[in-house]
Amino acid sequence: MSFVRVATVSEIPAGTMKHVEVGGKEICIANVSGKFYAINDRCGHENARLSRGSLINTIVTCPMHSSQFDITTGKLMSGPVLELAGIKEMFTGCPEKVKKAVEQMYEGIFEEQRLIKTYDQLVYDVKMDGSDVLVQI
Ligand code: FES
Repeated sequence: MSFVRVATVSEIPAGTMKHVEVGGKEICIANVSGKFYAINDRCGHENARLSRGSLINTIVTCPMHSSQFDITTGKLMSGPVLELAGIKEMFTGCPEKVKKAVEQMYEGIFEEQRLIKTYDQLVYDVKMDGSDVLVQI
């Protein structure tokens, strides 16, 4: 394994994340108050890019179903949030038959999604070289 340049410090301002692809890997680089961290950029739930989610302090929230990971350890902090409530409201004005069919369809999808196990994210070592950010792959 060796360190590879993936970004410059100016490309990832504090409190933001960047997606990089290097060595066949998709990596999420985050700047937490001037310190850089890197984890696998594909969510273990349904493969969304974590770098397109949000970063608050050290917690990355997945843009698809809100699983949360600690960017410093890759540890899963909370699993996906799957709610039918908002979807039900979208069909409020539809005939009862349509509402029921949509509800059944989404309940089936959510049941399958609940069975998907979400694990900790792989963590990459990061080091700085002047204004460059390097990740060990
Ligand atoms: S894809 Fe990340 S929580 Fe579902």
